[in-house]
Amino acid sequence: MSFTLAEARAADAADPLRPMRDRFHLPEGVIYLDGNSLGPLPRATAPRQREVVEHEWGEALIRSWNWHGWIDAPLRIGAKIAPLIGAKPNEVIVTDSTSVNLFKLLVAAARLSDRPTLLSESGNFHTDLHIASGVADLLGLRLDIAPREKIESRIGAETNLALLTHVHYKTAERYDMAALNIRARTAGTRIVWDLSHSAGAVPVQLNATGAELAVGCGYKYLNGGPGAPAFLYVAERLQEELLSPLRGWMGHAAPFAFTDDYAPAPGIARFLAGTPPILSLIALESGLSAFNDVTVERLWSKSNALFDIFHALMEQRCPDLVCITPRAPEVRGSHISFAHPNAFEICQALIAEGVIGDFRAPDVIRFGLTPLYLGFEDVWRAIDILAAILGEERWRDPKFAVRGKVT
Ligand SMILES: Cc1ncc(COP(=O)(O)O)c(C=O)c1O
Repeated sequence: MSFTLAEARAADAADPLRPMRDRFHLPEGVIYLDGNSLGPLPRATAPRQREVVEHEWGEALIRSWNWHGWIDAPLRIGAKIAPLIGAKPNEVIVTDSTSVNLFKLLVAAARLSDRPTLLSESGNFHTDLHIASGVADLLGLRLDIAPREKIESRIGAETNLALLTHVHYKTAERYDMAALNIRARTAGTRIVWDLSHSAGAVPVQLNATGAELAVGCGYKYLNGGPGAPAFLYVAERLQEELLSPLRGWMGHAAPFAFTDDYAPAPGIARFLAGTPPILSLIALESGLSAFNDVTVERLWSKSNALFDIFHALMEQRCPDLVCITPRAPEVRGSHISFAHPNAFEICQALIAEGVIGDFRAPDVIRFGLTPLYLGFEDVWRAIDILAAILGEERWRDPKFAVRGKVT
């Protein structure tokens, strides 16, 4: 397949999502292919933060908990995430980090069953595995960490709970959520889904596929800013059965009654623990406003077009990088990854030329395809720069081998 710069420009000109790019601050001279790790700054965020800081905090002070709806922010913003993941507004809440939410849901759900095994995938994102091992220790469960191809068959009579990441952080492989939910239901068990690389990127139908429990990040495709609070989903029918192991006052039925005894709030609000981080929550809300008037299906269809071009141009111009992401849209997410023994150095050389992707140890470069702000010309130019770096072996400069704390 040939795809010229002129064709890339024509594709951008014909792209109905092109105006959405103006919703973001995209630095001059940068092609940003890392929105699957940290979304860029939405234009709505800074003025809204200024308003919250200067007016709501600065002037209205503590009265803003009521006056400006701070107290409702976790539920209100959860309700804005709900349509992106096929959930009802009262089934999603924004709180804590993904890791902490995983802990809360795993413990709460595991306690509903006396089965002995907690199942997850080897090579799953490591925080998931670490949290799962902590939960297994805490509850006396056996941890069953199986390779991806064995997961479906391992869901069985012993399985208390499975923790699965819908789109794999490294390869972008995507599980068939509907099929696995059926498998879990048939086996009488439950799945906690990690949607960190799915929410805001690929169509997710939690309700329609019978998903019961899920978590996900706010700072990736949802553009909530560095360390944005995460979200947590519990299907309505399960909410009254689950109890959070972190019984903070914000998850109490009457936090301002100041009683000694714990009584869980009705519904999803029981998964709150401490005081919500208002500035971060409002930044996430601003990030979500970038999705106004856009459906995930529309984003997904552009993501597929970007993927096909990326894949074809890489095969043609950078054949030394081996694609480890499956080609078929139904089995992958919205990033594309390549293996190379010098992935780290190549990634650094790219960043030095303004093309920002990321490296995942030991040998993977990932590129996020984020249709809200990424264009076809961006993809063409990024690969043009990469081809030159590889062709001239510029990545061999020793300065590109220096590793910072964050790689
Ligand atoms: C699948 C997955 N889960 C969880 C996380 C991060 O969790 P936390 O926000 O608690 O650091 C990531 C981060 O990249 C991830 O890819």
